Amino acid sequence: MTNGKRLYGNEEKYVLEVLDTQFRSSKGSLMTSRLEASFAEKFGSKYGIAFVNGTATMHALLEAKGIGPGDEVIVPPLTMSATTFAVLQANATPVFADVEPDTFQISASSIKERITPNTKAIITVALYGLTPDMDPIMALADEHDLFVLEDNAQCFLGKYKGRMVGTLGHAASYSFQSSKHIASGEGGMVITDDPELADRTRKVQSLGYAGVGAAKGKITKADIQDPTYERHVIMGWNYRMPELCSAVALAQMENIEELVNVRIEAANRFMAAAKGCDWLIPQVTPDDCTNSYWTIVFKLDHPEHSWNKVRDTFRDLGGDGVYGAWQLTHLEPMFRDLTLLGRERFISDENKALYKRGLCPVAEDLQPRLMQFKTNYWDLAKADEQADILAQTIKALS
Ligand SMILES: Cc1ncc(COP(=O)(O)O)c(C=O)c1O
Repeated sequence: MTNGKRLYGNEEKYVLEVLDTQFRSSKGSLMTSRLEASFAEKFGSKYGIAFVNGTATMHALLEAKGIGPGDEVIVPPLTMSATTFAVLQANATPVFADVEPDTFQISASSIKERITPNTKAIITVALYGLTPDMDPIMALADEHDLFVLEDNAQCFLGKYKGRMVGTLGHAASYSFQSSKHIASGEGGMVITDDPELADRTRKVQSLGYAGVGAAKGKITKADIQDPTYERHVIMGWNYRMPELCSAVALAQMENIEELVNVRIEAANRFMAAAKGCDWLIPQVTPDDCTNSYWTIVFKLDHPEHSWNKVRDTFRDLGGDGVYGAWQLTHLEPMFRDLTLLGRERFISDENKALYKRGLCPVAEDLQPRLMQFKTNYWDLAKADEQADILAQTIKALS
């Protein structure tokens, strides 16, 4: 049991093992490769490639697919901006598709409308812990030969029609940033079944080294010592996950079921508290899906009270955190002002003209109304207390 702690397993032990190596590569503690193997196995994929964070993951995958200037990548606007940053980092063009009003996930019908001859990929986001409806998205991808990347930074062990979320697209990306189900300070993971993509993604992640591959994260000592060794077969970045962070994430992988279940349980408490309330409507989880509840999110539909009024009442009654949804990415100043660190030169005038209000009406209606409540309590007594405060808030404002 978590006993109210997030780091309650072998974290300290594994960190000390790493420190014990004195960072001598010959004494490699192999935490990162152990983490990659355990993650891939748990998520039902052939390959796991650990990254420094869950944005570099997506940038590397797009680079590995050869996506660049002139190519369009479809993304939702209701997400953390990293999804879109990865597209910009690859010098490609983000194209925003609208979301569904009940699940808040990217909509297949909106994606369909946004496909052009320049479209090369779709990044789906499993927002708040729930996957989008992937079958129609994959059907579109098959028809138009598009690469589908699942951004699962917020979704660990989610299910879709009995399948593991993360095995639905061609590759998936995860984040181990502090708010996530598994948190190691910073970190990320790519999973895929495609050996060629895994090999190339690894090379992009590790300076384009000839000697690394799908399941091999380091070049050998003999190679490093040879002055005639030609190392860099392609250009790459140093996007490797540090061993110390991998040690922490590896320990949490041993408790992943518990870390996910405690969030699901916390979400259930909040939903029970709001049951029957007609102005606070939870994100809809379809019957054939399991939501891993990175947070529990409600749509505010009160005839008279504002978002701030509900938040203030919750707080005044002793409530902890209520978070608004991020501003929609296409409405952020960086798109309004086209301050994209020079990437704007790769985006056509036609696409630039789209980055404004009116592009995604469903998301634009939803975003100001969403209320996210924390689920990462690791202590259900605390979740119970907060859910009770939500029930009192509803009573006070109904
Ligand atoms: C949906 C989503 N995508 C990507 C990221 C980026 O992950 P990271 O912070 O590890 O780069 C995050 C969170 O941080 C996220 O919530």
